[in-house]
Amino acid sequence: MKIEISRQKFLHYTAAAGSALLLSSLESFAIEENKKLRVAIIGCGSVSNRYIPHLQTSSLIEIVSLCDIKYDRAEAQNKKYNVNATTYPNIDQLLAGVPFDMMVTLTDMQQHGMLNKKALNAGKHVWSEKPMANTYAEGKALLDLAKSKGLRIWGAPAVVNSPQFAFMSKCIQEGKLGRVASAHGQYGHTGISWSAFFYEKGGGSMPDLGVYNMATLTGLLGPAKSVMAMLSIVNPERTVDDKGKIKVETEDNAHVLLEHEKGMISHVMCGFNYFDPHGHEAGSQALHSIQIYGDKGNLRLIGYDWETNGVVLDNSWDEPPKLLSTDKGNYVWQQGATVIGESLVNKTEPLINVEHALHVLEIIEAARESSASGKKILLKSSFPWPVVK
Ligand SMILES: NC(=O)c1ccc[n+]([C@@H]2O[C@H](COP(=O)([O-])OP(=O)(O)OC[C@H]3O[C@@H](n4cnc5c(N)ncnc54)[C@H](O)[C@@H]3O)[C@@H](O)[C@H]2O)c1
Repeated sequence: MKIEISRQKFLHYTAAAGSALLLSSLESFAIEENKKLRVAIIGCGSVSNRYIPHLQTSSLIEIVSLCDIKYDRAEAQNKKYNVNATTYPNIDQLLAGVPFDMMVTLTDMQQHGMLNKKALNAGKHVWSEKPMANTYAEGKALLDLAKSKGLRIWGAPAVVNSPQFAFMSKCIQEGKLGRVASAHGQYGHTGISWSAFFYEKGGGSMPDLGVYNMATLTGLLGPAKSVMAMLSIVNPERTVDDKGKIKVETEDNAHVLLEHEKGMISHVMCGFNYFDPHGHEAGSQALHSIQIYGDKGNLRLIGYDWETNGVVLDNSWDEPPKLLSTDKGNYVWQQGATVIGESLVNKTEPLINVEHALHVLEIIEAARESSASGKKILLKSSFPWPVVK
């Protein structure tokens, strides 16, 4: 039996989403009762070790296919996680194989745009690791394609889902910080050892690392109007597992200034030469990585926006700063595909918004242009804001 959505519910959803997007996806995606969302994962490398187990926690989702051009990886992950999926060595065979509803793209960054386009053209919804495309124009074309086919596409990261993001957003929206002026975010480690693509053209510390802080700061302060940046390559050579010694072709150090509305300015700093003993595991990080300043208070996010350990609110002349919002709930950074997959089944609109991901992609491109030209770059994209009121 098909689940029908009532007119009343539909109006509620569309009002919340503020767009016709949901209508098209609902029209194209009537899930039968008790039927799970069928997911295909493309790219069975490092991050699939986080995605596969998380997707397997959902009773609404079933991983039916695994694909990797290094085919042995698809087979190995199938066995390691008892997925019981069909495995494929390339996207064309994946799309022609076992039917599925949504593709989860976890490949090299440079491949995302091309793969996501093929999936949309084949009638599949898409969750893409960051970036969802190589350029803003390519990403926007993907969104237009998705809309024209009544499909949905979303891009990582999932930082807006954390209770700490919601807490900070509410503090700002409720005026607890007074007039907000400035914010800073930083994220780095000493670089990735397993794959060259992070250092090749189309890679870099901004789409891999800075993307989290860019999503958080624009999510909190609102869309950016312009960007100025300085990018550099500090370490021109790396040795990586898949290609040995390689030349670093794109930024491994980035400082990006964002101009928001009402005079607010934020700064993101990210790189692959930043000593941080917490690396990819930051559950015990007691220091902050994000700060927001207003004229009546300031906030510091303890840990990282992808691994949140609480928020310090300092808004009193007399009282010491308070560590608040320490409960992460079920938030983990690798939850994006599960959350939007479940939203497709439940016909709800998730907090994660594709226009936000596109805005961040435009910021990354603009930062490169600004650094190369020495000029301030105006942005054209925007997204529904505030994300959390
Ligand atoms: N590793 C992490 O901790 C982590 C965390 C968050 C996000 N990410 C993001 O996840 C993505 C993948 O990163 P990773 O660390 O897993 O890389 P990885 O090199 O470990 O894995 C990528 C896999 O994609 C496969 N692949 C490449 N092109 C393909 C194609 N055209 N078709 C099918 N398979 C293809 C490769 O063979 C490889 O197995 C990147 O966008 C990265 O930014 C990674």
